[in-house]
Amino acid sequence: MMRLLRKIYFLFFLFLFVPVNLNGQSARQSFLLEKNWRFFQGEVAQGESMVLDDRTWEKVTIPHDWAIFGPFDRAHDLQDVAVTQNGEKKSTVKTGRTGGLPYVGVGWYRTSFVVPQFEPINKRVVLKFDGAMSEARVYVNGKEACFWPYGYNAFHCDVTELLHRDGRNNMVAVRLENKAQSSRWYPGAGLYRNVHVIVTDKIHVPVWGTYITTPFVSDSIASIKLETSLKNADGKSVRMVTAILDAAGHVVAQKENQQKINYGKPFVQNFEVIKPALWSPETPNLYSASTQVFVDGKLTDRFETRFGIREVRIIADRGFMLNGKIRKFQGVCNHHDLGPLGAAINVSALRYQLQLLKDMGCDAIRTAHNMPAPELVALCDELGLMMMIEPFDEWDIAKCKNGYHRFFADWAERDMVNMIHHFRNNPSVVMWSIGNEVPTQCSAEGYKVASFLQNICHREDPSRPVTCGMDKVSCVLENGFASLLDVPGLNYRTHRYEEAYAKLPQNLVLGSETASTVSSRGVYKFPVVKKGDMLYPDHQSSSYDMEYCSWSNLPDEDFALAEDHHWTMGQFVWTGFDYLGEPSPYDTDAWPNHSSMFGIIDLASIPKDRYYLYRSLWNKKEHTLHILPHWTWPDRVGQQTPVFVYTDYPSAELFINGKSQGIQRKTKNSLQERYRLMWMNTLYEPGEVKVVAYDESGKPAAEKIVRTAGKPFQIKMDTMHDSIAADGRTLAYIRVKAVDKAGNLCPHADGLVQFEVGGAGTFRALANGDPTNLEAFQKPQMHLFNGQLTLIVQSGEKSGKIKIQAKSNGLKEDVLTIQTVLAP
Ligand code: GAL
Repeated sequence: MMRLLRKIYFLFFLFLFVPVNLNGQSARQSFLLEKNWRFFQGEVAQGESMVLDDRTWEKVTIPHDWAIFGPFDRAHDLQDVAVTQNGEKKSTVKTGRTGGLPYVGVGWYRTSFVVPQFEPINKRVVLKFDGAMSEARVYVNGKEACFWPYGYNAFHCDVTELLHRDGRNNMVAVRLENKAQSSRWYPGAGLYRNVHVIVTDKIHVPVWGTYITTPFVSDSIASIKLETSLKNADGKSVRMVTAILDAAGHVVAQKENQQKINYGKPFVQNFEVIKPALWSPETPNLYSASTQVFVDGKLTDRFETRFGIREVRIIADRGFMLNGKIRKFQGVCNHHDLGPLGAAINVSALRYQLQLLKDMGCDAIRTAHNMPAPELVALCDELGLMMMIEPFDEWDIAKCKNGYHRFFADWAERDMVNMIHHFRNNPSVVMWSIGNEVPTQCSAEGYKVASFLQNICHREDPSRPVTCGMDKVSCVLENGFASLLDVPGLNYRTHRYEEAYAKLPQNLVLGSETASTVSSRGVYKFPVVKKGDMLYPDHQSSSYDMEYCSWSNLPDEDFALAEDHHWTMGQFVWTGFDYLGEPSPYDTDAWPNHSSMFGIIDLASIPKDRYYLYRSLWNKKEHTLHILPHWTWPDRVGQQTPVFVYTDYPSAELFINGKSQGIQRKTKNSLQERYRLMWMNTLYEPGEVKVVAYDESGKPAAEKIVRTAGKPFQIKMDTMHDSIAADGRTLAYIRVKAVDKAGNLCPHADGLVQFEVGGAGTFRALANGDPTNLEAFQKPQMHLFNGQLTLIVQSGEKSGKIKIQAKSNGLKEDVLTIQTVLAP
């Protein structure tokens, strides 16, 4: 009998969760406005007009970043400023600060769409923008629908009343404007994130209309609270049916409730999940709440909310706890650009980057200093990366002449609310940061602004702690600013952590931004010395990882702080990836530098040596054994050429052409010796350098060899993407190298490589990670930088083979094939 009942129950739920069609229409439809946009860079009088002929405008696909196509130019957004947060007192000309790309100015986009079977009385139509850079004015059928100034935030507007009632095409026009001196880094330009059309019944769950929390979490049971807002249901009696589904789609809990909706109050449902699969970076288990809304017996909406079950706590003196376990953040800060793709969002590019970070052992990302794309947050949920989302670099006091301070008074609360509603159901998001190094830190009333923003977080999402990245330590320790935050976050200032811990009531310190070590992939400078603000004639920094800026430090200091003090919460390194703009230490009249050197991974998504230093401490699952520098130094024969090894093993022996150079052990003699094995006196001779790592018991455990390269012989392409989706969007990243006859990387090769991409895909971009390189990312040819570059190709919409050919003068060419596959 019980079995029969269970079967009936199961069939009942199966029925409920099959998409329901009412009179041929499902309760909710959502689609992207992706193709067939027209774009014009520049002002257009009445660009929203219905009679304007836009057929001569460029045809583009969204997401689109108009500025990434270049050309690079010193004159773009030249800023004569004193960067006070870097300790500058006098203004100087800053070149390449925003990437040297033409993001400043006005741009217009236009497209049209049809709402299938539109019935204006019973339907609602919303346009949702995941981000538009910036000062977006949206027009529908010639009339203004909405305005949203902050280019990083998502926003939406109900356009129902502006739509044609007779089923004709509706025209959307968007005017964007980026002011000069509005940013400290490359912001991108245009409709760089997705645009959605959402069609619902009149009674519906609005955009970001659910809030799901897990008030009790244990291994044996978890309680789930779902609050669902409804539009146009005031005074109605609503029946809500929700099932909680696990990752395999099995119903693990369900509820059917009836409630009268009072004005503005959400519909509340509670669930129990037995033996929940908890979310963590190591186990990114996800669930979803599948909700159906019935009014007067009619299904009016269906809504899916993906979530995870996990518990976040902050404990004085102990730090951050996830699911009852203390852990220290092994995080990185990232700006939003994707190097050669610019700000235009692409899921496969993000996935590629996140996989590199995961392999390094990174477990967290700070979105500096702005709201992320929803695709990034969804991927962090799926792959297992915690997130600290941070909306602002400026509050009411300016850092940039035309920065966000212009909008702060009127828009800060709306921006915070959108951000929090957008991402408060994502399990990866474990903390909000309300700002970065805001000048307001030192103003007498600054604490009021901080508490205004923190209170918005507490009101809209009491489930997460709040921090702020602070650099003016003397101010914030005394003026009440730091003590009011849930979590005090220090940017750099490692020498003041102990004092902050002792003075602050929270008894905790988070490294909200750390390191800012600078390096160029494949560049090594001699002699090897630890030094701040080093400048060289070639405008590069050394990959011995000993160089930093006046305000910053080396990774070793942050490692030690995390290891030595139970009250530190770990760190967010500045930065995971190099980004466009802020080319410190070459930022003052130092053109052609135009991209950062802080990244652990370069602008072409190629790991620098530093990647392996972090990996040796952070990746607890796999060993790391990495040698630097390369071993091809024809001009250094007989000269002192230090060798560093980044490894998790405690000691290692180095051999040059078979001769032992001795054993090095990690010691506490200096911070560098604690985390790196260094042979400072080795003399260069061509041949091979070999490292043998010894385990705790002194037994050889692993070895690695680097050989002197011969002459460049051929171009070699490698990819981890042998097969990609034939969806017209997915990208494959291809590493391109010049190698000698034996296959060794030629680390000085800098020849031009030309590409032909044909068949089932197209050429998308190139990057070589050189922060001084002015070659266009979108031309299918580029010079190698220290022997390497990255090619990115994009699938078409048909299955087949993408054929890629790489040629370089005097070298043997290479051919690579990538399969594209249609979704089943
Ligand atoms: C920090 C700042 C970051 C970036 C970094 C470079 O002070 O918060 O946005 O500018 O310096 O080191």
